Amino acid sequence: MAETDVFKVSILHKESIHCGFHLIPYIARTVLNTLPSSTYVLITDTNVANFHLNEFEQDFEREIGTLQGSEPRFLSLVINPGETSKSREGKANIEDFLLLNRCTRDTVILALGGGVIGDLVGFVAATFMRGVRFVQIPTTLLAMVDSSVGGKTAIDTPHGKNLIGAFWQPEYIFIDAAFLETLPSREFSNGMAEVVKTAAIWNEDEFMSLESRSAEIFAAIQTPSANFAGRSKATRSTAQELLLSVIVGSISVKAHIVTIDERETGLRNLVNFGHTIGHAIEAILTPTILHGECVSVGMILEGEISRQMGILSQVGVGRLTRCLKAYNLPVTLTDPRIASLPAAKQLTVDRLLDIMRIDKKNSGPEKKIVILSRIGATYEQKATIVKDAIIAKTLSEAARVIPGVPSHHPVTMATPGSKSISNRALVLAALARGTCRLKNLLHSDDTQVMMAALNELKGASFSWEDGGETLVVKGGEGSLSVPRKGKELYLGNAGTAARFLTTVCTLVQSSPNDDADVTIITGNARMKQRPIGPLVTALQANGSKIEYQESQGCLPLAIAPQGLKGSNIQLAASVSSQYVSSILLCAPYAAEPVTLELTGGQVISQPYIDMTIAMMKTFGVEVHRRTDPATGKKLDIYNIPKAVYVNPEVYNIESDASSATYPLAIAAITGTSCTIDNIGTASLQGDARFAKEVLEKMGCSVTQTETSTTVQGPPIGQLKAIEEVDMEVMTDAFLTATVLSAVAQGKTRILGIANQRVKECNRIRAMIDELEKFGVETVELDDGLEVIGKPIKELKQDISVHCYDDHRVAMAFSVLSTVIGGTIEEKRCVEKTWPNWWDDLENKIGIKVEGVDLASISSEASASGTQNHDADASVVLIGMRGSGKTFVGEHAASALGWTCVDADTHFEIKHKVNVREYVHQHGWAAFRDAEAIILKELLEEKTQKHVISLGGGIVETSAARDLLKQYAAAKGPVVHISRPIDEVVKYLGVETSRPAYGEPITEVYRRRAPWYSECCNYEFINHVGEVRDDGKLAVAQKGTRDEIARFFKHVTGQKPNLSANLASGRRSYFLCLTYPDISQALPHIDELSEGVDALELRVDLLRSPKDYESIGHIIPSASYVADQIAILRRASSLPIIFTVRTKAQGGAFPDDAEVEVIQLLQLAIRLGVEYVDIEIALLEKQIRDLSSRKGSSQLIASWHDWSGNMKWNGPLVKEKYDTAVGFGDIVKIVGKANSIQDNFDLYNFVTSVQSKPRAKPIIAINMGTAGQMSRTLNFTFTPTSHPLLPNKAAPGQLSFKQIQHSLHLIGLLPTQRFYLFGNPIAHSMSPTLHNTAFEVLGLPHHYELLETTEIDETVKMAIVAPDFGGASVTIPFKLDVIPLLDKLTPAAEVIGAVNTIIPQVTNGEEKGRILVGDNTDWLGIRACIIERKTDPIHAALVIGAGGTARAAIYALQALDAEKIYLCNRTISKAEKLAAAFPDARIQVLNEITQWPNGSVPPSVIISTVPASATTTNSEQSNAMLLSNNLYDYRDGPAVVVDMAYKPAETPLLKLAKTAGDNWATVPGLEVLLEQGYVQFEEWTGRKCPRNTVAKKVREGYSS
Ligand SMILES: NC(=O)c1ccc[n+]([C@@H]2O[C@H](COP(=O)([O-])OP(=O)(O)OC[C@H]3O[C@@H](n4cnc5c(N)ncnc54)[C@H](O)[C@@H]3O)[C@@H](O)[C@H]2O)c1
Ligand SMILES: [Zn+2]
Repeated sequence: MAETDVFKVSILHKESIHCGFHLIPYIARTVLNTLPSSTYVLITDTNVANFHLNEFEQDFEREIGTLQGSEPRFLSLVINPGETSKSREGKANIEDFLLLNRCTRDTVILALGGGVIGDLVGFVAATFMRGVRFVQIPTTLLAMVDSSVGGKTAIDTPHGKNLIGAFWQPEYIFIDAAFLETLPSREFSNGMAEVVKTAAIWNEDEFMSLESRSAEIFAAIQTPSANFAGRSKATRSTAQELLLSVIVGSISVKAHIVTIDERETGLRNLVNFGHTIGHAIEAILTPTILHGECVSVGMILEGEISRQMGILSQVGVGRLTRCLKAYNLPVTLTDPRIASLPAAKQLTVDRLLDIMRIDKKNSGPEKKIVILSRIGATYEQKATIVKDAIIAKTLSEAARVIPGVPSHHPVTMATPGSKSISNRALVLAALARGTCRLKNLLHSDDTQVMMAALNELKGASFSWEDGGETLVVKGGEGSLSVPRKGKELYLGNAGTAARFLTTVCTLVQSSPNDDADVTIITGNARMKQRPIGPLVTALQANGSKIEYQESQGCLPLAIAPQGLKGSNIQLAASVSSQYVSSILLCAPYAAEPVTLELTGGQVISQPYIDMTIAMMKTFGVEVHRRTDPATGKKLDIYNIPKAVYVNPEVYNIESDASSATYPLAIAAITGTSCTIDNIGTASLQGDARFAKEVLEKMGCSVTQTETSTTVQGPPIGQLKAIEEVDMEVMTDAFLTATVLSAVAQGKTRILGIANQRVKECNRIRAMIDELEKFGVETVELDDGLEVIGKPIKELKQDISVHCYDDHRVAMAFSVLSTVIGGTIEEKRCVEKTWPNWWDDLENKIGIKVEGVDLASISSEASASGTQNHDADASVVLIGMRGSGKTFVGEHAASALGWTCVDADTHFEIKHKVNVREYVHQHGWAAFRDAEAIILKELLEEKTQKHVISLGGGIVETSAARDLLKQYAAAKGPVVHISRPIDEVVKYLGVETSRPAYGEPITEVYRRRAPWYSECCNYEFINHVGEVRDDGKLAVAQKGTRDEIARFFKHVTGQKPNLSANLASGRRSYFLCLTYPDISQALPHIDELSEGVDALELRVDLLRSPKDYESIGHIIPSASYVADQIAILRRASSLPIIFTVRTKAQGGAFPDDAEVEVIQLLQLAIRLGVEYVDIEIALLEKQIRDLSSRKGSSQLIASWHDWSGNMKWNGPLVKEKYDTAVGFGDIVKIVGKANSIQDNFDLYNFVTSVQSKPRAKPIIAINMGTAGQMSRTLNFTFTPTSHPLLPNKAAPGQLSFKQIQHSLHLIGLLPTQRFYLFGNPIAHSMSPTLHNTAFEVLGLPHHYELLETTEIDETVKMAIVAPDFGGASVTIPFKLDVIPLLDKLTPAAEVIGAVNTIIPQVTNGEEKGRILVGDNTDWLGIRACIIERKTDPIHAALVIGAGGTARAAIYALQALDAEKIYLCNRTISKAEKLAAAFPDARIQVLNEITQWPNGSVPPSVIISTVPASATTTNSEQSNAMLLSNNLYDYRDGPAVVVDMAYKPAETPLLKLAKTAGDNWATVPGLEVLLEQGYVQFEEWTGRKCPRNTVAKKVREGYSS
């Protein structure tokens, strides 16, 4: 057999680590010969087994065959891959296997696999038979360089990772790098994070080879080594050598450290670099994001902490960043791989710090972090204690600048290298001959991708000197090769790099060794929209083959390697000077000398072209710009000779002049002095003129030499405005000038900067909008802006500046913040040109900066927002005249018990003239001003318990709009009453009391509509319906009134319309309405809603009639959706669940219409929809935004897995749950069942998460028929279907009734018995009533009569039986039953009688059941009255003075009756009753119609005496004589209720028929029904199915 060459590394003084390639035979031989045993057990996972188990088995068997003496056994065990195996169960499995196979103390265990196998098997070995020998054979890079070395073994528990384990050293660690050839490349990168880490803390040389040779290292694992190549040194390729040296290098460091400090007491801490923060991130993102990926981000953040502490330079952070990126590792939390995850929402500063608190390295409460001092060395020989504030500052998204005078005054500093010069220098040095040392190179995104790309093209080699301060470029003289197949040059959003590299790539020459035939350059999504067309067109015209891969005119490009032809090139240069520079830089390498002609008129940014030409000259190539011989004028034609650049030995990159404007401006604004070392009059950059041309004019003293600039500012507050300044030659510096002008005395006009509208953002707009927050006024001009300066004292404080992801906006506002303070959101956007700006601001200038966690800002904001407004805060109504503000306002006020205020009336009182007259006298403008003042007064005076209705035109002035917006944002609801505009037109056509518009109403509406929606936080759709001929509003239907009451109680928070069952912990259900048009549901709405607690409106299924015919995706319009909700609300009082499901979630909404989804969800919140379903896959910002506006509504945070891959006992579901809990009031997780077992797993999951304190309600469902069981078991808001629906919303959906059956059958809904106690009761309709309801809802209960002469043992037995569900009580026991009860409701207490017994489960200390007595008679009476009469009751009459009369009085009192006449045959009894209700304003009558003369006759009459006790026959004695004047009331609706149950038409009701037609009659049966419905709901928690029940009861009654 071929010889095997291994490299041995010693650890703990033993050479036990053996490294090489294709080691399996070697492993078998070594193990069998040096670790003699009776049994060898190899444990691996299925992934690794697939690739390598056979070979192990064969080699071990073969080798065993060669052994002398008794043959040992070779056993193997294959387990599931993945972290879940690393558990107690996983360990027990292996142990059982070993025990079953009678393994003994001499067993040798081989762990073949990644870190999971190594940790788990190692721990088994540590405890099996008190410890057996074991061997590590790591197969992932992570396991090779990290987990297998050091002897740490462990398993996970639900409490955390690696919490139980042991130190147990393996006998051998065999590192076979050939295993890496089968490893997925993401896993390889995962391991590289640890390799980079080790080099970073220990060995700069190693780090250098990692940073420069990533392409080769990747190549080594991606090229399979045939025929065991590499096993012997002779057969090893260079790539293999490199790979092995990287691994060995890394292992050696770790082995060394472990040897010195095996138990991690100090030095071994160091290998935790990046891990303190990395682990915290991992805790949140595992298992989606791998350990190494989290550590990679952790290293950068920890590197930044050390930079912040002034220990590590930006160079170090930059190199680390670049190196990790080269191995495809994420370096920030905003990396799309991380940021796109819903779990990323939990990466808040507080949460991360909280997790870090329990880090094993900590001593006490202090956190420890490994602090780098430079690449290859750490600050201490152990982790360093770091304060929370420092960590928090680095982790925060935003920075707060604390105002003050720079403490390092006078400041002297250099700014980072210029971005433009850095990029040009990189290209030049790479293309040149010889070696160049670049100093002061900018370490930023742009230069990083540029270097990475040049590296990939093998165009040059890069290395570092002076700890990275100097970049050594060995030029490739223009030789460039095609990157290997599949490798694209990824440029992120680096514009300069993209433009320069496009031409550079045309220089690539093909070679026979290439496996790819084009070079592809690409970028991120934004980059893919930025233009590159003119440059590509020019190059194509010159003969280069360049193809657009996606959209025309943008990246990605595929460029053929055929060299640049040269000669004449024409280029349109009006968009970007970078196109010109790109061609200029490469032109010397074209086949023929180039003549570059710029076309298209105005050439943009000539200074940058001049800069390129000047730099080319430094590198030895002189460009000739032609002049017109006739005029001597310069032409836009350049001649570039054919040549090779020659590298100067050293090239000093000038500091960035735009960056320099910030420290200089800080000197100017704070009255201090600042010197910038590296920029002076000789600068190539236009922005170098900023000091002289702007700062000096503003009153600073400026001293400039060729290479330095010093600025001394005037005393604070004394900057002068410059009347007008043209900044065309230094456009980037205009932002700096703008913030200074904001505090200068006078107006400053800044011109010549129109191009700044198309930079990273529209910078002119950005400055205007952000300055406005500080209270600074500006005027936008065509090519600039005017700033009206304001004294610093008058600026607004505590402003949070949004930066539009633009570095210059961020830095400019940090200048302003040095005098006023301010929070700069998105602090990281400075990374583009000055990554350590915030550190330099503090460490070099001496202005304090704090970290701010935006997550907490937004929760603060929502705390002051409408979400938590005071429930008593007044409501403001806005909307077109004629939209029904007055009508809605009055009803809302009466429902809330508040006062309604009309702004117009208020106006008339104040100005003593009506609105119409005022406009006539003073004109519209004056009226609007006066109106705004009224608004302000109203908002200030009527802060609580008012409904304020405003004039339609209030939104016409911005002052009023601002007031409204502020009110909506911070104080209370502003509701836009919206009514279809054609109804408004029709209505206004006949109304004249207010001033005419003088323009068409529809025009007015069009103009105001956006203002209304901008000012309101709620919208109420008011469909008043018919307009009657007389022009008055038709009396709104009861539906509308109920809707108004519900809506306003909900949005104010007085009584949110949420499901009671959900709140009280009963099972709850909703019905999914799957209609395209909800009005189709209305005829059946009562049946459809049987049993359920809410109605789900599936918005994705809605189709307006005009869309019926269309095929394909339809997105219903907002107005249609709003209409549908209004329709549904008038038909049903149930809360609505608003759901938009996309196709991917099993719905019908297009998957890519995220914007439309968000708009609809916002609409739902505005309409006060009670429950809004939000997919957690939406962007965090949008969810936060919705959540901050939700008010009383609740969010259902939902996640759907349709793949069937999600396991309820797997990690994914937990991750989703945690995310959903983060913002949802209710969590919804939907999976798919493949078998019944999936339902049990679901149930266990729910039980476990619900057992936590304060757990949020969860809807957990499995789709599919196999998942039906989960629909039975689900507790909260189970989605249901109904046989009457057009189709089911989801497969496997059951009806409410089916679920009740099912619950009963599995024992979760036992039968209960209900009774009627009374005598005589044989003819009672109550059994029909309740049993019909039970039947309709599928409840297994039974209601029966218990006729008895007294409250005896049978009654007592019935009510204490465990299956007692409740009872009705009637004559004669309504009082007798009271002693048996534990408690009475307030109503029963006051009425002094009980007609309902409700068993209630108590959760108090003694968990048990109590019996509660209630009286629902009064509710029945009240319901019958309000059904028919809603206007105020001026007077009512009650006949009788028994128990039912008490209920009647109680009901009337609750209805606010102003006067109650009481009439009874025995007057003393009536007087006694009146005395019992002292607040009810009762007047006892001697004769039935004897109310005082001139007073209002009763509009409500309730008789509580038997029919036989009344008569219309004056002959009849011993009965109360009823006469016609009982019904004298004529001024509106009136009701007479006869509680007598038989006959159907009592004398009282009969007489009413002959009275006016304003009288409605209510027979006793109706009251019985109403009070029965209430009883039913009290017992079962379910609404009684009224229609069916009433029908059955009426039939029974009349038969
Ligand atoms: N003990 C320590 O000091 C230490 C240090 C770091 C990490 N760890 C632990 O290591 C574990 C992670 O280890 P990991 O990253 O190796 O993960 P892993 O063991 O889960 O392996 C990653 C994946 O790659 C597969 N795989 C492994 N080798 C392969 C090969 N050669 N070809 C194809 N597929 C292959 C595996 O089946 C698995 O699916 C974690 O549990 C972590 O806690 C321990
Ligand atoms: Zn690690």
